[in-house]
Amino acid sequence: MTKKILEVKNLTKKFGNFTAVNSISFNVDKSEIFGVVGPNGAGKTTTIKMLTTLLPPTSGEASIGNYDIVRDASTVRRIIGYVPQLLSADGNLTGYENLLMFAKLYDIPSKEREKRIWDSLHLMGLSDSAGNMVKSYSGGMIRRLEIAQSVLHRPLVLFLDEPTVGLDPIARDAVWKHVETLAANGTTVLMTTHYMEEADTMCSRIAIMHKGNIAAIGSPKELKLSIGNQDASLDKVFEHYAGDKLEENESGRNFAEVSRTRRNAKRLG
Ligand SMILES: Nc1ncnc2c1ncn2[C@@H]1O[C@H](COP(=O)(O)OP(=O)(O)OP(=O)(O)O)[C@@H](O)[C@H]1O
Ligand SMILES: [Mg+2]
Repeated sequence: MTKKILEVKNLTKKFGNFTAVNSISFNVDKSEIFGVVGPNGAGKTTTIKMLTTLLPPTSGEASIGNYDIVRDASTVRRIIGYVPQLLSADGNLTGYENLLMFAKLYDIPSKEREKRIWDSLHLMGLSDSAGNMVKSYSGGMIRRLEIAQSVLHRPLVLFLDEPTVGLDPIARDAVWKHVETLAANGTTVLMTTHYMEEADTMCSRIAIMHKGNIAAIGSPKELKLSIGNQDASLDKVFEHYAGDKLEENESGRNFAEVSRTRRNAKRLG
């Protein structure tokens, strides 16, 4: 039997009179790669911020590994990893130094730090670049470094907010290959993306958000069947439920460009 690791029930976030997330409910099983897709402003980041304890819900509840995100917030923080939509790596440090900073932040005992850091670097395919300044990294390498940072403490659930925005297809594939390895090793992943093909191939199940609601939820196959066409692309499913077309993001190749892309194109609430 599969084990639920994330349970969300009637979770709601209001900003004043505006409801950004409207009573959403869903569960995620252990080792799933669960996708949340939706147009700009759908409420994806707000949902992730509540689940990562950074934003208090207005109502409803959620638990991770049976720990409540409000009552047991400090425990929840220890068992999750989070890669935000905006840049979180420091360009003026080396890859290794970035990881060392996070290892300290996560209170990883000093005698274990070296091993954890090198395990993470290896897992994300960055061992050879560990000594280079991050501002010399490509966009894909930066994303992989940020994921390496976020899994140093071996979280049960990893939250990735648009992990491949602004990356070229090859860099995207590399990020995904490594995320799949993490999931195969037992980490549960909840991610948002604007790339429907990516969601289709990567995610075991997908929630389509629209104006704060979950408009549809299921495996890619179930979602396609739900619009009566098992051969439909996920783009078509998305258009059906969100009534919107997605625009491709421009590609950014290095730290400065990725930083600009993410800063300009995205806002953090
Ligand atoms: N702190 C805040 N105060 C007021 N409104 C906010 C705040 N944070 C988010 N919002 C609003 O809530 C809605 C959902 O925003 P959110 O960032 O969750 O969307 P998103 O689905 O992540 O969009 P994107 O694809 O652009 O990242 C938007 O209309 C946004 O303007
Ligand atoms: Mg967002």
